[in-house]
Amino acid sequence: MTQVLPGDGNAIAEAARLLQAGQVVGMPTETVYGLAANALDEDAVRRIFEAKGRPQDNPLIVHIGGMEMLPMVAREISCEAQALAQAFWPGPLTLVLPKAGAIPAVVSAGLDTVGVRMPAHPVALALIAQAGVPLAAPSANRSGGPSPTQVAHVQKDLDGRIPLVVDGGRCPVGVESTVLALGEKPLVLRPGFVTAGEIAQVLGRPVEVAGQKAAFSDGQTPQSPGMKYQHYAPKAQLTLLEGGFEKYAEYVAEKAGKIAGVYALCFDGEAEKLAAPAVCYGRAGDAASQAAGLYAALRTLDERGAQAAFARVDEKTGVGQAVYNRLLRAANFRVIYL
Ligand code: TXA
Ligand code: MG
Repeated sequence: MTQVLPGDGNAIAEAARLLQAGQVVGMPTETVYGLAANALDEDAVRRIFEAKGRPQDNPLIVHIGGMEMLPMVAREISCEAQALAQAFWPGPLTLVLPKAGAIPAVVSAGLDTVGVRMPAHPVALALIAQAGVPLAAPSANRSGGPSPTQVAHVQKDLDGRIPLVVDGGRCPVGVESTVLALGEKPLVLRPGFVTAGEIAQVLGRPVEVAGQKAAFSDGQTPQSPGMKYQHYAPKAQLTLLEGGFEKYAEYVAEKAGKIAGVYALCFDGEAEKLAAPAVCYGRAGDAASQAAGLYAALRTLDERGAQAAFARVDEKTGVGQAVYNRLLRAANFRVIYL
């Protein structure tokens, strides 16, 4: 049984003790819950991969509690990296930087770079400070499924596989951090709450976003190894429907009349106008609310036994780009244009 403790001083002390002893612990961040271990301890980091069932070639993000920890993780911190850290940390931006020697290769899956961020959740910051070491942490879900945004999600996925998860309430951002590579051309490898536009403003030069469709054949190395895996998927077969609400409602009604277990994944206030049971994931025109609600909604579809779900899709710019990126992967790139 995994212990769940409210995120107070006691819990943080107990979690820090476990981390120092080489154990893995579930911790809240502002984006999603993470599965943390001492990033400097190779055996501890291996336990993360075991608990999650994560492929070994997918690198982890290292979480720091203050700028003084950054040199432990990255051997070179460019002026641009410093400017971005100043602008967005603590917060949901991961910088891919040259890896320091103290970080074992298992963290970065053998890459010479390491993803690093300073999370904006008070419990995460207190935990890193008390543990006194940077923490490697992927999202605290079983590999392949939707990320956890509530402590109950972590319990459901990892019960009995980790000793403790600290409850920090609902994650306010709801989708994982933006991952940025700072090369000749800055490239967003995974869109998130910090947008390419906001990053470009700080850098004073254009920022590209990696293609949404990640089709990698065996042997090819994608820039961000995480991009080649099936992600965030509910058990129900999810399809994205592009088009206005009228056409969406018609399409859902037609499907619901033909096959069993059809659900709508729609925006707040739309459920009553649909001929199928519905789960809402946020407000139309409000990407931040969609990001905050998406993973819980995907999990609700599974709890209700949905067989097939059809999702409404909104704007794909700004934070909407992060929402669409996760929806596309959860749907395994199934999109229908109405
Ligand atoms: O918001 C988040 O980032 C959450 C919370 C817990 O901090 N963490 C998270 O970790 O989403 P994870 O492991 O689920 O996703 C890490 C992503 C993967 O897509 C991985 O490929 C990429 O970051 N990544 C990590 N290190 C990298 C590196 N050195 N180069 C390129 N991509 C990297
Ligand atoms: Mg993940």
